[in-house]
Amino acid sequence: MTNDLFDLDRAKCLKCGACVRDCAFRALRADADGYPSMAYPDRCMRCQHCLAVCPSAAIAFDGKRPDDSVPAGGLELPSAASVENWLRTRRSMRSFAKEDVDRATLDRVLRALGNSPTGCNARALTFNCLPDRASMDRFRQLFIKAIERHRDGQKLLPRWLAVPAIKLRNGGEDMFFRNAPGMLIVTSDETDKAVATPREDVTIACANFELLANANGIATCWCGFLNLVQKEVPELLEATVGIRRTTPFYAMLFGRAAVRYRRGVQRDGYAKVVYMDGAGAAD
Ligand SMILES: Cc1cc2nc3c(=O)[nH]c(=O)nc-3n(C[C@H](O)[C@H](O)[C@H](O)COP(=O)(O)O)c2cc1C
Repeated sequence: MTNDLFDLDRAKCLKCGACVRDCAFRALRADADGYPSMAYPDRCMRCQHCLAVCPSAAIAFDGKRPDDSVPAGGLELPSAASVENWLRTRRSMRSFAKEDVDRATLDRVLRALGNSPTGCNARALTFNCLPDRASMDRFRQLFIKAIERHRDGQKLLPRWLAVPAIKLRNGGEDMFFRNAPGMLIVTSDETDKAVATPREDVTIACANFELLANANGIATCWCGFLNLVQKEVPELLEATVGIRRTTPFYAMLFGRAAVRYRRGVQRDGYAKVVYMDGAGAAD
């Protein structure tokens, strides 16, 4: 049964019902002849679970053919130990080497990042990337100009912003961007009504960027400062990189590391773990 989105190869279909059972919003149903069809396209969130779950590769979705997918479990996955080791030893890098990140590696990381999950599968993320020192230096200059223009409009700046901004302008320490040779600004689309969780989507993409970048030898640092400064200077991103002031975003600094950490820090006791299997037992 062919629909614009859901294209079933009946010769391959086993009528096992796996796609129908896995459909989160029940957009698929098994017809009287046992074949699945897209009965309620309005409910479909285009997650492609049907394409992914089909044991006989019978389902193409929105023009995507199952044979073009990465095989699940067929390729090497990081072991539990290596993922845990990454989490225990990952560090926020604040000393970057002079060199730029190789563009092919960066491009592969950013393209893979499109697989980051988004609420209701909204997929409204944009990966705005300042990929090298030249673009970061231009950005820093525009950043300082935007702050100074704001201040010259008689708007008082808090000390935590004014003092490091002067340092940066004078060629001193770059507390905002840590002298990084690259920055990724992940944005969502506030004009798209289908986007349910814009802030979570951008933050999750940043977390995945950190993991993927680190795995490719690229060091990262979360750049919460950019959001803080934007709160004080709402025209900042518009004036520097043309991102609307209402657009949800989060940023990551990146580059090659200039510091090598020899061991992890120790935090196991810091997070509370609360098992709630007894919750509500008294009622
Ligand atoms: C949401 C978020 C925002 C952050 N913003 C900044 C920032 O603007 N500048 C900075 O140097 N570090 C920033 N950090 C890094 C934290 O300070 C850092 O994660 C923390 O000190 C622990 O160090 P670690 O990441 O090396 O384990 C941020 C971290 C997070 C999670």
